[in-house]
Amino acid sequence: MKKVITYGSFDLFHEGHYNLLKRAKELGDYLIVGITTEYYDMQRGKLNVIDSLLDRIENVKNSGFADEIIIEDHDGQKLEDIIKYKIDIFTVGSDWLGTFDFLKEYCEVVYLERTKYISSSILRESRFPIIRLGMIGTGRIAKRFPDEIKYVSGINLNAVYNPRISSAKAYAKMFELDLATDDIGLFYQNVDAVNIASPHETHYDYIIKSLEHGKHVLCEKPMCLSKKEAEHVYELAKKNKLVLMEGIKTAYTPGFTQLIGVARSGIIGNIRDVEASFTKLIPGNCRELTDLKYGGSFTELASYTLLPIIKLMGCDYKNVHFESLKAENGLDIYTKAYFYYKSGLATSKTGLGIKSEGQLLISGTKGYILVKSPWWLTKGYEICFEDITKNEFVKTKFLGDGLRYEISDFVKLINGRSEIKEKLSEKESITIAEIINKSLQTLK
Ligand code: CTP
Repeated sequence: MKKVITYGSFDLFHEGHYNLLKRAKELGDYLIVGITTEYYDMQRGKLNVIDSLLDRIENVKNSGFADEIIIEDHDGQKLEDIIKYKIDIFTVGSDWLGTFDFLKEYCEVVYLERTKYISSSILRESRFPIIRLGMIGTGRIAKRFPDEIKYVSGINLNAVYNPRISSAKAYAKMFELDLATDDIGLFYQNVDAVNIASPHETHYDYIIKSLEHGKHVLCEKPMCLSKKEAEHVYELAKKNKLVLMEGIKTAYTPGFTQLIGVARSGIIGNIRDVEASFTKLIPGNCRELTDLKYGGSFTELASYTLLPIIKLMGCDYKNVHFESLKAENGLDIYTKAYFYYKSGLATSKTGLGIKSEGQLLISGTKGYILVKSPWWLTKGYEICFEDITKNEFVKTKFLGDGLRYEISDFVKLINGRSEIKEKLSEKESITIAEIINKSLQTLK
């Protein structure tokens, strides 16, 4: 029996896929089709897949050509599969010509001619018109955005708004945008969605304004500074049938998403403690160290440290209390927040001006998971046990500065992939706002 194998994402299943599978099947007697997981697609930088894995499997199955469907989830798997399934022929479309020649040592490699004028990318563009994104604010994060949005298809940054027109113009010139304006009405006429990267205390008003103008919103963290504000904006987004997403970039990265799944799987038993630390040394004249109302280490960094705490210990903490070291101007430069839960503890440590190890440590009844600094750019983690021979280090991919994952999930949400919401649920985001508000009342 001649065994053939082929691979792909098979997103928005189309004629090209059908033709390829048909000819692949004709090459032998038994066809195995490997379909990429979402996680693997994210890892290899393919951030635009629309259909879920289950839908993609269903579509390949319905073509009637696959005798067996397997999942492709890591680099190097093709060779492993060829050996494992005793494959005679490996085949893919001619767009990959030459790429898999190294497999010729193990089996025959056939590049089938690609069907012309059709691809998942073409379909994505026709089905989901390109989202025109406008930037509100032109600060540090806003400047990192253009380099990352380039990696996400289906969205373009084309306008910037700043009440200070000179800043808007400078930003538009730097990143070659079509429109720079201080006229918010004109701005809204030219965009479908906005990214809010203005100072923290202005987020709330901009979110409301944008939602009222029918625009989807991605807002930099901390999105809101109180539970009441956060509840209100989510309510308004729901009412206006728009996407509202808090941009805590860690929440959307493949490594962190995987880590949370693994921690929740029970591999380290019941989770009893989460300790998350994030500290930074920054010049003394920065806004974070001079803005007496909204500066300080907790407001600035706690969105990150609270994320794993809330995701793993839950939103229903019994109590939280803060211990801080303060600068002469009264701002907290180092804060420990202690959480008490019914069945565990958690600590958040944030610092601006005091440097500490930035690690994430998740402790359970059967072991612990350690994510070394910078855990918020999750590139790997270690699962540890009493019996150290069972310890395992898991490497995960993290591309660029990580913002591309957040932007790509924003696009997916706009295009109807509501399950993305689980990466940072409304309740979790509201709880983070509530805790930040408690800190503002306690520390200021
Ligand atoms: N394929 C093909 N003809 C097309 C499109 C795809 O023969 N017009 C083949 C690819 O060469 C590959 C398989 O179908 O062997 C699965 O490809 P996949 O990457 O899932 O599809 P694309 O439409 O190329 O996706 P994208 O536009 O996202 O790159």
